[in-house]
Amino acid sequence: MQELAGKHIVLGLSGGVACYKSAHLCRLLTKAGATVQVVMTEAAEQFITPVTMQALSGRTVYTSQWDDREGNNMPHINLSREADAIVIAPCSADFVAKLAQGRADELLSLMCIARPIERVPLLLAPAMNREMWAHPATQRNFAQAAADGAHVLGVGVGEQACGETGDGRMLEPEELIEDIAAFFAPKVLAGQKLLITAGPTFEAIDPVRGITNLSSGKMGFAIAAAAKAAGAEVTLVAGPVHLPTPRGVQRIDVKSALQMLDAVQAHVGHASIFIATAAVADWRPASAADQKIKKDGSGEVPALAFVENPDILATVAKSERAQRGELYCVGFAAESHDLLQHATAKRVRKGVPLLVGNIGPATFGQDDNALLLVDASGHRELPRASKTELGRQLVAELARRLPTAQTKA
Ligand code: C5P
Repeated sequence: MQELAGKHIVLGLSGGVACYKSAHLCRLLTKAGATVQVVMTEAAEQFITPVTMQALSGRTVYTSQWDDREGNNMPHINLSREADAIVIAPCSADFVAKLAQGRADELLSLMCIARPIERVPLLLAPAMNREMWAHPATQRNFAQAAADGAHVLGVGVGEQACGETGDGRMLEPEELIEDIAAFFAPKVLAGQKLLITAGPTFEAIDPVRGITNLSSGKMGFAIAAAAKAAGAEVTLVAGPVHLPTPRGVQRIDVKSALQMLDAVQAHVGHASIFIATAAVADWRPASAADQKIKKDGSGEVPALAFVENPDILATVAKSERAQRGELYCVGFAAESHDLLQHATAKRVRKGVPLLVGNIGPATFGQDDNALLLVDASGHRELPRASKTELGRQLVAELARRLPTAQTKA
C-alpha cells in the first residue's frame, strides 16, 4: 500500500448501515500511512458516532458547513483544497442524487462540488438496498456522477442488512483500500494485456491422488494485482491455490500442466506480456487410473511411469508473436544455489528477454521474497521485501523494458 503513504484522504460518510465498515476503512487508510479527515452527514451520524471516527482517524470530525474551527468558517473550501482524494464511503442513493444535480446543502456535498475537479479525484463507494441500486434514477445518477469525473468503486453483491440479497452492498474495507491504492498507482502498464501463470500444477495418479509442489502462488498473484493497478488488463491462469482473486483480474483455474498449457494457448493470442510464475510439474504420471488404486495386501507397490510435461514458457517464447517482439515473455526460476549462473543460463535456454530468479523452495508460501532480474544487459537485485511490494517493483522494471512501454507516470 505504498501508494497511500503520505496521502491526505478526506473520507466522507453519508447515511447507511455500511458506515460501520467505514470505521475499519479509516483504520486501514491510516495504517497504510495516509492521513484521514472524516466528514459526516447528519444521516451518517445516525449510524456511527463522530467520536469513533475521530478516535480512528486521530482528527476531529467535521459534520457541519458552519464550523468556526476554520478561521474563514469555510470548511468546504479548506478541506477540499488539502485533499489528495475525497472518498465517499458509503455513498447513499440520496447522496449520489445530490452529486448528480450539483446540490450543495450540507458540508459533504458542498465540499464535493467545491473541490478543484482536475486535482482532487472523487471516489464513490455505493451502499444501498438492491432495489435502490437497480432503480433507473440511481443508475442514472451514478452515470452522471461518473460523467462529471467521479470514480465508482464497486458495488458488492451479497446479503444485505435488510435481509435481501443482491447488488448494492458496499465493498469490504479490504477491497476498497485495494481500489483506492490502485487508483494512485502509476499507470505504467496502461494499454498492456498481461497473461500470467501462477501456483503449482497437480498431476493426477488416480481420482484421489496426485503429484504437486509447494508453490503457494503468492508471487504470481501479487504481480497480477500490481499489473492491474498499473493499468494492465490481466488474465491469471492459476493452478490449485487458496488465494483470493485480485480485484479486476480475470482468473482461470486449472489443475494440470496440460490444462495450464491449454488455457495459456487460448488466451495468449491477445496478450502483449506473458509472465510464467507457475511452478509447473516437470513430469506427470504416464496415465492416470480411472479408479482409486487399491492396496491389495500383497505388499506390492504400484510402479509409476512418468512422461515429460510440455514447457509452457518455452513454447510461448518460441511463438511467432514473441519472436516478432509483439509478446514480451518473462520467466521465473527458483534455484537452491548459484542463482545468477542458473538464471542467466535459463534465460537463454527458455528464449526470454527477462528471467526473474529467486531462491527456492525456502520462499515458497512465505510473504517475503527477494528477486534477481536477469536480462541481456546484465542483472539487478530487488532486495528482500513483501511479495506485494516486489510485485509492484517488478511491474515498474517490466514497464521500463517493454519495447512499447507506455510510462504515463
Ligand atoms: O525449467 P524450470 O522449471 O526451472 O523453468 C522455470 C520457468 O519456466 C518458470 O517461469 C515456469 O513457470 C516455466 N515453466 C513452464 N512450463 C514448464 C516448466 C516451467 O512454463 N513445464
